[in-house]
Amino acid sequence: MRILILGGTTEAASLVRRLADHPDYDVTLSLAGRTAAPLALPARTRIGGFGGVAGLAAYLRAHGIEALIDATHPFARVISGNAAAARRETGVPLLAIRRPAWTSEPGDEWHEVDSVAEAVPVLGTVPRRVFLTVGRLELAAFAAAPRHRYLVRTIEPVGDALPGIDVTAIEARGPFDAEQEAALMRRHGVDVLVTKNSGGTATYGKIAAARSLRLPVVIVRQPVLPEVERVADSRAALAWLEAHRATDRGV
Ligand SMILES: NC(=O)c1ccc[n+]([C@@H]2O[C@H](COP(=O)([O-])OP(=O)(O)OC[C@H]3O[C@@H](n4cnc5c(N)ncnc54)[C@H](OP(=O)(O)O)[C@@H]3O)[C@@H](O)[C@H]2O)c1
Repeated sequence: MRILILGGTTEAASLVRRLADHPDYDVTLSLAGRTAAPLALPARTRIGGFGGVAGLAAYLRAHGIEALIDATHPFARVISGNAAAARRETGVPLLAIRRPAWTSEPGDEWHEVDSVAEAVPVLGTVPRRVFLTVGRLELAAFAAAPRHRYLVRTIEPVGDALPGIDVTAIEARGPFDAEQEAALMRRHGVDVLVTKNSGGTATYGKIAAARSLRLPVVIVRQPVLPEVERVADSRAALAWLEAHRATDRGV
């Protein structure tokens, strides 16, 4: 069974590992190409956009793909829309792995916003020590609030994304656990966390740490994604693939 996995997430990596060495699956992992040195995974990997819905549909047909797995990040809205449209155009079965979003607990101080740009004014006028984990490509919005000091964690170097701003940059790839996150926040005197509501477990540590330190969190809500068949994790995705393979074999 030829499978195309749209990746760039922990779930995609986990599914690739589950399918590795499985003789019944021929797996290609697709990455957008945002990171210079992606995590090494045991699958054929292609890198770069397809050229919109038409390009993705053409790829599915040209490579005889029998199942498409959208394991992209919940904030990767365009590619998820393209996957749903390509499924309609080609009839190739599509499954999305969608992590449940994080939810606040009693006592949490969460400020929910709809975009990274909307998070900036929520930081207020008093200078603060801000822990920013929104991804390198969305840092520029914080140039509008130079009064704050930022602890920025990204996978790739931030480069000159925040010129003239007080930035302490950390390069690291998750997962991160809650104790390490709390220690990091204490060490840097963080007094507010800004994050996307990415959901899942790999980066939940910062949410738990902010809770334990009683820090406020400015959190970007997940965008609305197309309604497609979905599961919550790679284990369920494997079960879905097994079921499809059985149907195809007429079992
Ligand atoms: N947004 C985030 O916060 C975030 C966080 C962690 C990881 N990621 C990962 O980074 C990638 C890019 O995120 P984004 O928010 O820029 O996506 P996006 O806005 O939904 O996608 C923009 C364009 O990038 C290309 N693309 C995206 N994902 C691709 C993939 N897996 N394989 C091939 N092409 C892909 C597509 O180009 P064409 O139209 O030319 O096909 C798409 O139209 C995603 O794969 C996502 O899983 C994103």
